[in-house]
Amino acid sequence: MSNDTVTITDNATGKSADLPRIQGSIGRPTVDVRKLAGSTDLFTYDPGFAATASCKSSITYIDGDQGILLHRGYSIEDLAANSNYLEVCHLLLDGELPNQDEFNEFESIIKNHTMVHENIHRFMSGFRYDAHPMAMLSATVAALASFYHDSIDINDEEHRKITAHRLIAKMPTMASYCFKHMRGQPFMSPKNNLSYSENFLHLMFAVPAGDYVPSPTAVRALETILILHADHEQNASTSTVRLAGSSGANPFASIAAGIACLWGPAHGGANEAVMNMLDDIMDTGATIESTIARAKDKSDPFRLMGFGHRVYKNYDPRAACIQKVCHDLLDELGGDQPLFQLARELEEAVLADDYFKERKLFPNVDFYSGIVLRALNIPMSMFTVMFAMSRTVGWIAHWQEMHNDPEFRIGRPQQIYTGETHRPYPKK
Ligand code: CMC
Repeated sequence: MSNDTVTITDNATGKSADLPRIQGSIGRPTVDVRKLAGSTDLFTYDPGFAATASCKSSITYIDGDQGILLHRGYSIEDLAANSNYLEVCHLLLDGELPNQDEFNEFESIIKNHTMVHENIHRFMSGFRYDAHPMAMLSATVAALASFYHDSIDINDEEHRKITAHRLIAKMPTMASYCFKHMRGQPFMSPKNNLSYSENFLHLMFAVPAGDYVPSPTAVRALETILILHADHEQNASTSTVRLAGSSGANPFASIAAGIACLWGPAHGGANEAVMNMLDDIMDTGATIESTIARAKDKSDPFRLMGFGHRVYKNYDPRAACIQKVCHDLLDELGGDQPLFQLARELEEAVLADDYFKERKLFPNVDFYSGIVLRALNIPMSMFTVMFAMSRTVGWIAHWQEMHNDPEFRIGRPQQIYTGETHRPYPKK
């Protein structure tokens, strides 16, 4: 028996398989089960893929027990403290942080693509006045495929590159148009003399009748939110982009599929749930003490939104990064805003409470991101759109990696069939 293999024996048939043990650069060893069916007739069953690696990837590493998140080997803490969002995009897409010349070139390429075709304006204006921004965004991203026949050959590396740049560049423009449509305000043109985040705030909040200058703290807060949500390895929406793209679907269709998946409350909607909880506390006049007591009461399904995490059992490193930005922003906005004050008091009370300490329940990134977005005057229905905007680079980096992977095949899971067995067709 070799240490490089894992032997699986089917006691029912006596058939066995020596399966290769694969070790990544860090992380848990993995059993390669591809030969299992051939050697033993067995398949594996893993709903939700909780115990299954679907691909090899060199983009992002997470260690939930240690609270570690690395992009291309750099910690999220270092990236949030030292990089801007476009530098992180360059890192995720190309594998390296850019030097100054490379950054200037990358930024100018992105800025070259920030505008959308006039017909995209018309397309977006055609939605009903109360259309959900995520419905608008997913449809508009899918519609981009009809504008760029020149660059949707997925086997052409140059095509894949230009599509990545177009998506990263146009996402803020389209995201802001969802908001402008909702508000009934004219779509603003992007301003290429502004940074990525400044430009987004301009697209959102400027109006033709006046000037708009965002505060540097707001810009930094947005930049941090974008960096912290840029990628999170094989999460549901990223896996959706990979699966949709595995059929050879064009990149715009694949990213639109990812946006649709992100829309679900179990994925992109958690920061909205935090704000609903804080609003509820305000509206019902509940106290911090009674809210915490409810969260501890096992007969009450209520949980404190924004606390705890399925993967991070030590702390969510993204939460630690956003916490400071959040506090700076709230300080700048003043301490008189009751909701922000409530959030701070709740956080303090939870961190001091033994129930949460014993269960290692810390604030997660969503506790703070909702508060930051609210402080930036972004309405709740736009929260998931903001997430989609930041995550686009992660989706496209994984989509590119998949197409460069020699082991890449169309995604096609097996199933355990539990229906009727073959039966005769009823006589008429
Ligand atoms: N409030 C009160 N108690 C909690 C909470 C909470 N938010 N989270 C977990 N617990 C308790 C839970 O009742 C259990 O207690 P006991 O051991 O006495 O039975 C213990 O802590 C372990 O909980 P669990 O459900 O086994 O933990 P999990 O890893 O399955 O759940 C979670 C993780 C994120 C679903 C959960 O913590 C939760 O519901 N949090 C609130 C929702 C939230 O903020 N979600 C956003 C997560 S960040 C999203 C992202 O990264 O994309």
